Amino acid sequence: MTNLKRPWTKYPYFEEDTSADVVLARMGPDTDARLAQVMTSAVRHLHAFVKEVRPTHAEWLTAIKFLTETGHMCTDWRQEYILLSDTLGVTMLIDAINHSHGDGATENTILGPFYVENPPHRPNGFNICLDGKGEPLSIRGRVLDTDGNPVAGATVDAWQTNDEGFYDVQQKGIQPDMNLRGVFTTDDAGAYWFQTAKPRYYPIPFDGPVGQLLRAMKRGPNRAAHIHFIVKAPGYEDVITHVFPPDCPYLEMDAVFGVKETLIGDFRKVDGGWALDWDFTLARAA
Ligand code: BEZ
Ligand code: FE
Repeated sequence: MTNLKRPWTKYPYFEEDTSADVVLARMGPDTDARLAQVMTSAVRHLHAFVKEVRPTHAEWLTAIKFLTETGHMCTDWRQEYILLSDTLGVTMLIDAINHSHGDGATENTILGPFYVENPPHRPNGFNICLDGKGEPLSIRGRVLDTDGNPVAGATVDAWQTNDEGFYDVQQKGIQPDMNLRGVFTTDDAGAYWFQTAKPRYYPIPFDGPVGQLLRAMKRGPNRAAHIHFIVKAPGYEDVITHVFPPDCPYLEMDAVFGVKETLIGDFRKVDGGWALDWDFTLARAA
């Protein structure tokens, strides 16, 4: 990668064949080592992508406009870049890379954009379905360690959409605040229990650029029905997870690839609604 007329230079002029090397040669020697690794890889992959796809100027401008609109769509309650990462499977890939497998702990899945900080702590048995919509569901279970011992004092933080497929924060003033959210604490036997509504499938927000992209790719926007959980206990790794009902038609078509076989629960039809026994297993913190 030397210039024919200036063989001594470290900073060669731009050429298609050596384009990534030309760009990377400008990176200073004192660049933070991790940033240098990340940017070297990003530039090499981006240049390889452009060489493979060979976009026209108009196509590249379409991509720039898409990213611009994605940014303009972002607010405190709408993170379109996270939606993009979710729908391209990148969020689940980051999750897979960062969570060990095979230790028997409950599997992680996507957090999603609708978690709110400081949800209300509720006593076991509380009904978090404040709008009374949907089919009643009773959930009970235990938090265990990977040896099967109960974990007392663990928190089980649950949230889900209402029966119309919206989170409370998407319908402020329509749904009661903190509808279908609550944190429960396990008793001495590691047990927790609460009432809610059977979850239903719902579309991720698809009125923005990510929705347009999904439509263009002939993909649907629906998330398989689920309840979100964050389970925590001192001395254990946190688990961010879901439980899915087995009768949801979108299990295999979840728009953000969040479904895992081990997270499909055995929802039982009972008098007056549904019941689910659901244990969580936590791994000891490293
Ligand atoms: C959710 O489950 O709340 C969610 C996850 C990813 C994108 C949109 C919504
Ligand atoms: Fe969700």
